[in-house]
Amino acid sequence: MNPYTVGLTGGIGSGKSAAGAEFEKLGVAVIDSDAIAHALTAPGGAAIEPVRAAFGAAFIGANGAMDRGRMREHVFNAPAERARLEAILHPLIRTETAAQARAATSAYVVLMIPLLVEAARRDPDWRTRFDRIAVVDCSEATQVRRVMARNGYTEEAVQRILSAQASRADRLAAADDVIDNEGAVAALAPQVARLHRSYLHLAAA
Ligand SMILES: Nc1ncnc2c1ncn2[C@@H]1O[C@H](COP(=O)(O)OP(=O)(O)O)[C@@H](O)[C@H]1O
Ligand SMILES: [Mg+2]
Repeated sequence: MNPYTVGLTGGIGSGKSAAGAEFEKLGVAVIDSDAIAHALTAPGGAAIEPVRAAFGAAFIGANGAMDRGRMREHVFNAPAERARLEAILHPLIRTETAAQARAATSAYVVLMIPLLVEAARRDPDWRTRFDRIAVVDCSEATQVRRVMARNGYTEEAVQRILSAQASRADRLAAADDVIDNEGAVAALAPQVARLHRSYLHLAAA
């Protein structure tokens, strides 16, 4: 049986990882879709041979991992190529996510998915995979500041990423629960603790 599932999302730099860490501290299984995608395209990952077959050996680096930079450039502004890559990755990510969710022993699981709202907009079936959607929220100015500091990107580079993502308003409209991360990191723990109590009740119902 699938456990009660909370989708945790938010724009780049909003604080998904920070909020996810608070759920983990409470003993909740947090499944990170980015980490799964990374493992699938690491040396020996399940996506390596399908990517080699579909795109050619040039997209596999000497270390046996997918050349992510090259692939990013290849699919940038190339929707058909992006779709080809996603047709390989998404079913594998979905299978691995489901396996980790089934293996979880916590009362509910948190699926951390950066582009959840974008995916749900393309395919309404997506929404049905979650019992609840929690959005980590902060202003765009704060996102820009945090990502510039974390990744060393220019303001323009962060703005480009933001403009390719759903808007803050669209994410908030999709949210059942909102985690405010405009303030200090310390403000996350009490909010996550309150949601945790609510999810335990909902999962038991
Ligand atoms: N409330 C906060 N105050 C200050 N810095 C924060 C806060 N929340 C997160 N950060 C920092 O901002 C960056 C982005 O947070 P992160 O959790 O990695 O976001 P996401 O996973 O959504 O991309 C990280 O470097 C993180 O340490
Ligand atoms: Mg993160």
